[in-house]
Amino acid sequence: MLNIQSRVSLKPYNTFGIDADARYLIEINQVNDINTLLQLTDFMGVPKLILGGGSNVLLCHDFNGLVIKMNIQGIEVIRENDDYIYVMAGAGVKWDELVQFCVQHGYAGMENLTLIPGTVGAAPMQNIGAYGVELEQIFDSLTAVHTMTGERRTFSHADCQFGYRDSIFKRELKDHYIITSVTFRLNKHPIFHTRYGAIQETLTDMGVPHDELTIKAISEAVSRIRRSKLPDPAQIGNAGSFFKNPEISKAQFDSLKEQFDELPGYPMGNEHVKIPAGWLIEQAGWKGYRSGDAGVHTKQALVLVNYGSATGQDLLNLAKQVQDSVHQKFGVTITPEVNVV
Ligand code: FAD
Ligand code: EPU
Repeated sequence: MLNIQSRVSLKPYNTFGIDADARYLIEINQVNDINTLLQLTDFMGVPKLILGGGSNVLLCHDFNGLVIKMNIQGIEVIRENDDYIYVMAGAGVKWDELVQFCVQHGYAGMENLTLIPGTVGAAPMQNIGAYGVELEQIFDSLTAVHTMTGERRTFSHADCQFGYRDSIFKRELKDHYIITSVTFRLNKHPIFHTRYGAIQETLTDMGVPHDELTIKAISEAVSRIRRSKLPDPAQIGNAGSFFKNPEISKAQFDSLKEQFDELPGYPMGNEHVKIPAGWLIEQAGWKGYRSGDAGVHTKQALVLVNYGSATGQDLLNLAKQVQDSVHQKFGVTITPEVNVV
């Protein structure tokens, strides 16, 4: 029996803490619920919004349709060989719960992705990444249900067309499929990624010698770094990085570097250079800015925050001002990472 609620406040369902309403909301606990739902004639033409943890959405108005909140649980080892172990998790499992499960069991590969908010089902959407690792490095396959036909399909790594904060589900197939489970290929022989940012320094502060490195220690180091600079949505509403880091041509980078000699850049190996949007935003003077309850975080300029009662539109207006000013100062366009609804 499906429980469809009417007129529900979405405030507890998004980490920005935006107080928008949904006309209808349903919580999905098993795959069959989706097929039952898709057969309800009353809801056939109704717009649908799939939600996991709501940690990468900006709700700009009430949603006059059906919010499908994914709750499918379960973590299961499905097969293994001498080198790898394959772990399948339901779309509604909290991402960090899965990371902790793998770290505790010694299944390597996810430790750098510790403490990313949200659910397993949303993780392939933007190929989540942090501290030198992206989901695609440990991704095996996923299962999904078509939102119109109810067809169940398995997507391989190649099918997902992963890129930096990107996949086919954020482009051509946006809103076409509900991801129901994801299978990961974890390593029995860990490969440690410690070169990114402050990981090595933090491990040293923790007193972890090089020859005693473990995935648990990396997970702990990533946790410490993240807690020190990213705002906790339970304290201040936010959705992590609001913009993506832009990739510009080497020629544009060289010319900008002549004007701004401290501009950081990471060569992409394709005549392009990725530059940190946080640096651009800070240099444009926005770090710590606040207008009403909408602001730019004091420690991480890439994160927009809701101090309490900002609306989605307030945050969108602020994002536009930041975008324009970065473009004016540097001639670089920064685009949102967050899904604007
Ligand atoms: P939601 O916000 O609920 O949804 C995001 C998008 O996915 C929406 O378009 C939604 O329709 C769609 N979607 C959700 N579930 C499904 C499903 N089952 N099937 C199909 N579509 C679906 N991201 C990073 O990559 N790296 C980081 O380091 C990082 N740090 C963050 C730190 C903070 C403090 C916060 C608040 C966010 C951070 N994020 C980061 C962003 C966010 O956590 C991720 O994008 C996460 O994967 C979103 O998961 P969610 O379940 O909350 O998705
Ligand atoms: N910087 C500044 N000022 C700031 C913020 C950053 O100058 O206010 C500069 C610094 O030079 C710093 C560099 O930007 O060295 C990079 O900063 P940081 O290591 O904090 O990472 P980021 O590029 O801002 C990206 C991801 C994060 C991810 C971290 C760690 C994107 C859009 N964001 O942020 O992901 O956690 O790296 O890997 O790629 C998210 O996607 O929501 C997210 C939080």
